[in-house]
Amino acid sequence: MERKAEVKTFFEKTDIYFYFDYNIKIRTEIVADLINNTTYDCVLDMPCGNGFISLKNSKNFKELTLVDFSKNMIALSKEMAEEEKIENVSFICGDIFETDFEDESFDLIISLGILAHLDDIDKFLNYIQSKVKSGGNVIIQNTNSTHFYSHLIRLYLGVRQLFGKDKYRLNKVPASRVEDSFQKAGFKLEKVFRYNQSFIGFSRLFSNDRKYQLTRKWFGDVNNNKNASLGSDYIYLFKKD
Ligand SMILES: C[S@@+](CC[C@H](N)C(=O)[O-])C[C@H]1O[C@@H](n2cnc3c(N)ncnc32)[C@H](O)[C@@H]1O
Repeated sequence: MERKAEVKTFFEKTDIYFYFDYNIKIRTEIVADLINNTTYDCVLDMPCGNGFISLKNSKNFKELTLVDFSKNMIALSKEMAEEEKIENVSFICGDIFETDFEDESFDLIISLGILAHLDDIDKFLNYIQSKVKSGGNVIIQNTNSTHFYSHLIRLYLGVRQLFGKDKYRLNKVPASRVEDSFQKAGFKLEKVFRYNQSFIGFSRLFSNDRKYQLTRKWFGDVNNNKNASLGSDYIYLFKKD
């Protein structure tokens, strides 16, 4: 199967989200910390997954646009927006690169959990960099492929693949590739939070609540990021000059 189709099939199964919901909760709180009560006019969450992260922060946004090519993810996002009576939100079910936003149309772009899944990472980075206004922000997540913990994760996934599990392959993206790309495009790094989202083979030993508590205890929050050097997952806040 072509990679894009493989990614789409994978993310049409929304149950993955319930399995990882401690991570969504952490990402939502980290985005809130990074926003730090700033109000943004036009915000894009792309890809949005089930929408939880930006919808939970939507009181800080005048207009929010959610994009994802998984129709089941968009359905969950719409459900949540309706339940929580969030009105300033629009939804696009489609491919990232088929959106036709004008350049410099957003004050904030949130892009979490996407770099590991794309064919063309530089195209995506250049795309979002061009869609944010001068003085605007990008919040983007990457798992640093050169970090020792990423090597451990790949070893674990490699063993699972030997037994026919998890055929799905994630891109390897070093932190320097993301940081250099934003720097060249005229962005400044304002903040970064580092943690580990994977419990490798031990995930099933803990409930989502426990995984949330352990992660928070070990890595703290944006203003007090404990043990940051041990975290292979980076959530950046960049600002465009
Ligand atoms: C790991 S999830 C991250 C979702 C959300 N940002 C989060 O952090 O919970 C990746 C999402 O990217 C979407 N996706 C992957 N490739 C895409 C593409 N080319 N166009 C639109 N959505 C895409 C998937 O459907 C999936 O919902």
